[in-house]
Amino acid sequence: MIDIRSLTFRYDGAEEDALRDVTLEIPDGAFLGIIGPAGAGKTTLALSVGGIIPHEIRGDFYGAVKVDGLDTADNKLTDLSRLVGTVFQDVESQIVSSVVEDEILYGLENFGIPRDEIEERMDFALGQVGIAGLRHRTISSLSGGQRQKVVIASLVALRPKILVLDEPTGELDPSSSRQIFSLLRSLNREYGMTVVVVEQKIMLLCEFAERLAVMSEGRVVRDGTVREVLGDIAGLEAIGVNCPRSALFSSLLSEKLGREVPVAVNADEAVETARRIIG
Ligand SMILES: Nc1ncnc2c1ncn2[C@@H]1O[C@H](COP(=O)(O)OP(=O)(O)OP(=O)(O)O)[C@@H](O)[C@H]1O
Ligand SMILES: [Mg+2]
Repeated sequence: MIDIRSLTFRYDGAEEDALRDVTLEIPDGAFLGIIGPAGAGKTTLALSVGGIIPHEIRGDFYGAVKVDGLDTADNKLTDLSRLVGTVFQDVESQIVSSVVEDEILYGLENFGIPRDEIEERMDFALGQVGIAGLRHRTISSLSGGQRQKVVIASLVALRPKILVLDEPTGELDPSSSRQIFSLLRSLNREYGMTVVVVEQKIMLLCEFAERLAVMSEGRVVRDGTVREVLGDIAGLEAIGVNCPRSALFSSLLSEKLGREVPVAVNADEAVETARRIIG
């Protein structure tokens, strides 16, 4: 479990706190989406889960983050990175090699994985992420979506329990974005990996994530199942969250009809609701 307790963080030199008294529990095996407007603290929270804050990025840090019972402030980043793999918002900055297999090898060697296990882990990671065919390619010849997958594969090879991704589809077209989310779903379902993903594409997120945390001005202001969170459209819009149209649709219907209409979390549900009401 990821247990974030009263976490407050201010970057060195900043005038305001980037996180303010954040408390959030993320159970094992969860698929959690984090949304919120620019500057809300999503990246800061994502970096705090794996201990990059406070180990690599300095500032005033109050409260605690525990991952599987390990306090991130008291444990070395090398130990934490066996538990948590983080894909940064700027994924390019994370790539260290020029050939795909070297990128995956790099992490495995750093972790001191025995030689005879390396090949098996390499095959597993490439296969699981669906890029076995790219193994010998140079990274400079890959598309944005393929690079994103290489970084995810390099983390999957290390078999962390938790994968944190900060806007993994930021630079991707709709079809590559879906591919990344399908991949995350299979890692979550088949291997029980806990997935925490910061994402602006809320429709996509609502389709794949099970839980949502909404951030605003350094706080987590909503946390619940996708359906629970989308139940309060007016509140979300007031914070500046662009809600899925399907949920807007069901909320408008509720208003118009003067009775509760179930929240439509996707287009199929909206169509179903419309059918039921029109008869
Ligand atoms: N390295 C830094 N030094 C100082 N302040 C920072 C730093 N990084 C972020 N901040 C500030 O901390 C706050 C939270 O930023 P953060 O990057 O976590 O937001 P975000 O929700 O990820 O935004 P975006 O949607 O733009 O990625 C913002 O006010 C930002 O200006
Ligand atoms: Mg960010």
